[in-house]
Amino acid sequence: MSLQTSHPTGLPTSLLRVEHVTKRFGGLVAVDDASLAVAPGSITGLIGPNGAGKTTLFTVISGFEPATTGRIVYDDRDVTALPAHERARIGIARTFQIVQPFATLSVVENIAVGAFLRHAARADALALARRVADQVGLGGMLDQPARALTVAGRKRLELARALATGPRLLLLDEVLAGLNPSEIRDMIPVIRAIRERGVTILIVEHVMQAVMSLCDDIYVLAQGRMIAQGPPARIARDPHVVEAYLGHGAAQRLQGKSTPVTPADETEDGHAQRA
Ligand SMILES: Nc1ncnc2c1ncn2[C@@H]1O[C@H](COP(=O)(O)OP(=O)(O)OP(=O)(O)O)[C@@H](O)[C@H]1O
Ligand SMILES: [Mg+2]
Repeated sequence: MSLQTSHPTGLPTSLLRVEHVTKRFGGLVAVDDASLAVAPGSITGLIGPNGAGKTTLFTVISGFEPATTGRIVYDDRDVTALPAHERARIGIARTFQIVQPFATLSVVENIAVGAFLRHAARADALALARRVADQVGLGGMLDQPARALTVAGRKRLELARALATGPRLLLLDEVLAGLNPSEIRDMIPVIRAIRERGVTILIVEHVMQAVMSLCDDIYVLAQGRMIAQGPPARIARDPHVVEAYLGHGAAQRLQGKSTPVTPADETEDGHAQRA
């Protein structure tokens, strides 16, 4: 049986397509018939209020949990039934919202954990880990224990571990959460540079200023459902998006303001506030 899918619409091929994915946890529908497409070479955003199902969707895309229904198509291949390690091998990597480095291992050893996916020899894995550390700005901290890193350092380490697996598609889950404004400013060019090196990025992020400046295309998830999609400027003005973030009536209250969801609306941990 062929795993290839056709493109009857003639639209450009996507590197990733999520097709009508639903994920249930018992009676809770965390993701509800959600679809999205990520163009190769893009930075695509996935935003939405707390509990919308963003991390759950990443978990399903990366294969850590199966979809209840729906399909995941990566590089024109139906990967819905593939386990996580096989999806990693074909180039899907994710970062985790809750960063858990091996505290007693050094920075370079933590990154090498990712590099072992493609390098059996320790020396090769460590060499790759050093190169990746440079790319994320951790080159000066290679031999520090991971526990010595600040929050911003741990976020960079998590990014590096994922990058070291050699992804073509990188799923970033709130890599800016908990960072202060200057740390966020420093991280944005790091993410851009990853894309410039040919890695396609799907990013979940609450820091709206960063989402708006980084993304080519944005999807909005609310209560498991995809409620909007479009370029940043349109999404920032979309009344459904404003409602989803700020609650009923917010769109009317905010009418006339150009960028309804700004970093000023966010809490210290980078999460958008709810009404
Ligand atoms: N393993 C699980 N078992 C049961 N319920 C879960 C599980 N994982 C997530 N959920 C629930 O699914 C819903 C979506 O959670 P998810 O973590 O995907 O949201 P999110 O959009 O990433 O939110 P946040 O912005 O706060 O990170 C929530 O109601 C959450 O409690
Ligand atoms: Mg989440």
